Order: sequence, then structure tokens, then C-alpha cells
Amino acid sequence: MTQKSSSLIASGALAIQARIADFPKTAIVLGSGLGHFADAVSGATTIPFGDIPGFSKSTVVGHSGNLIAGEMEGQRIAVMQGRIHAYEGHGGPAIATPIRILKRLGVEWLILTNAAGGLQLEMAPGSLVLIADHINFAQFNPLIGPNDDSFGPRFPDMSAPYDPVLCGKLEQAAQAAGVLLKKGVYLFVTGPNFETAAEIRMFAKLGADLVGMSTVPECLVARHAGIRVAGISIVTNYGTGLSGEPLTHQETLANAERAGQGLEQLLRAFLRQL
Ligand code: HPA
Repeated sequence: MTQKSSSLIASGALAIQARIADFPKTAIVLGSGLGHFADAVSGATTIPFGDIPGFSKSTVVGHSGNLIAGEMEGQRIAVMQGRIHAYEGHGGPAIATPIRILKRLGVEWLILTNAAGGLQLEMAPGSLVLIADHINFAQFNPLIGPNDDSFGPRFPDMSAPYDPVLCGKLEQAAQAAGVLLKKGVYLFVTGPNFETAAEIRMFAKLGADLVGMSTVPECLVARHAGIRVAGISIVTNYGTGLSGEPLTHQETLANAERAGQGLEQLLRAFLRQL
């Protein structure tokens, strides 16, 4: 890592610490259409991404761009309301820096949420799916470049990118809350176009259950830095060709907002049992 990016991480962390003294150990990244979850955080301190060195604001509708810290179900949590994506033209460092700032602030657990397309018939729109593993089909990797050994090793292990303990807690929470939580493999594409029907058929054959344009880069950076990660997808649509309908971002947002209630119940139950 370059001198420039390590000083950006240090100044980002300082800017946040100036506003949030005791930063939470658990952070949640909210994907497309899921930003409302942040409204339920009590005693919230909200910092616009634009006020934090190293954080970039998303250009995508449905991603507000705030870092929020406060309480939910008696637990302190931090929430990233919105994220940036490779398809917006952001490079690896822009995606890596916020996660590394969270690490510097002491975050130990990171829950990444997203909207995804379902590749199997049982992954119907509205389903909540715990990410069991991923395929970095995009080959976009924010860890490319000089390695900063103070975060993690040059060649990080990915035998369990999604932490078994954290995933177990989320599965227990889903049961307790009476929320159906499926499990699946998430395949990362850069986008921004939705896939062709032939691509969707190929991804299903490759062993993927979900397709989306986020989460994997953040997971890679977080795992490199030793943060425990879980990922939850809200299936907003069937992959191209599985249903006859053309795909739109509006549909993605509307379905994410609808299924977002189940996600909130699940996360509340998770926080209650911490
Ligand atoms: N493809 C890729 N990304 C997505 C989709 C999809 O069908 N739905 C939501 N995000």
C-alpha cells in the first residue's frame, strides 16, 4: 500500500473518531434499497461520506452515503448507508479504504447486505439468502497493488470468507425471528448491465445461486484485515431468462424495500442475542 493510502486511512479514522468516540465493533453495509434500516438506529450520529477522507459517495439511486453509529436492540452498531461499486468507475483503493478505516476503528464483525438476482427457481424474488461462499467472476480485486502487512498477508486465505460463527449466529437469529433464511453461493460481476440469459445459465452451471455487483470486493478487503464477515442477499429478481420480464433498477429497489422488513427482523434478532 502506498504512503498516500495509509495517510488517507489515518485521516479518515481521525475524522470519524472526532464525531464518534466509542466506535461499535459491529458494522453493517446496506445495499441497494435497504437504506431504510438505518432509520431504526437510535441515538444516531450520522456522518455524510463526503465529510470523511477516504469515503466516496455513491452515484447510484438507492445509496444515500452516510456512516451512522448508534444503538439497536441495546447493541452499538455502525451502519454504512450505501456503498460504492466497481461499475461506477471506482478502483480497488476507493473500495478498500472505507473497510480499512473501519478496521482501524476496531470493527470486528462486518455484515454485508446486497440486492441480488436469483439463479435457481428456489431463489425467488423476496428470498433472504445467507452467502455461504462466493465466486469472484469479475476478477476485480481491491487487494491488487503493494501489500500493507499491517493489515494482513500478501496471500490471504479464502477457505472460509464468510465466518462460520457469525453465519451460525445469523441462522439462529433467523429461526428465532421466524424469518426464512436460505443459503447460497454469490457470484460477483462488475455490471453495470444486467446479464444475458446465456450468462445466467452459465453462472448456474458454475455453481452459483445468486448474482450481484457488490460485496465480494469488500469481503476480500475485510478478510485480508482479519475482520469476520457475513453476507446477506435479498433476491430482488430472477436472473435474466428465468422469468420472461426485462430487468430494471426500479424493480430491484422496490423489491429490496419490500423484503427489507424481513432483513430488519433478522438483524434485530441477531443483535438481541449478542
Ligand atoms: N444481476 C446482477 N446484479 C443484480 C441483479 C441481477 O439480476 N439483481 C440485483 N442486483
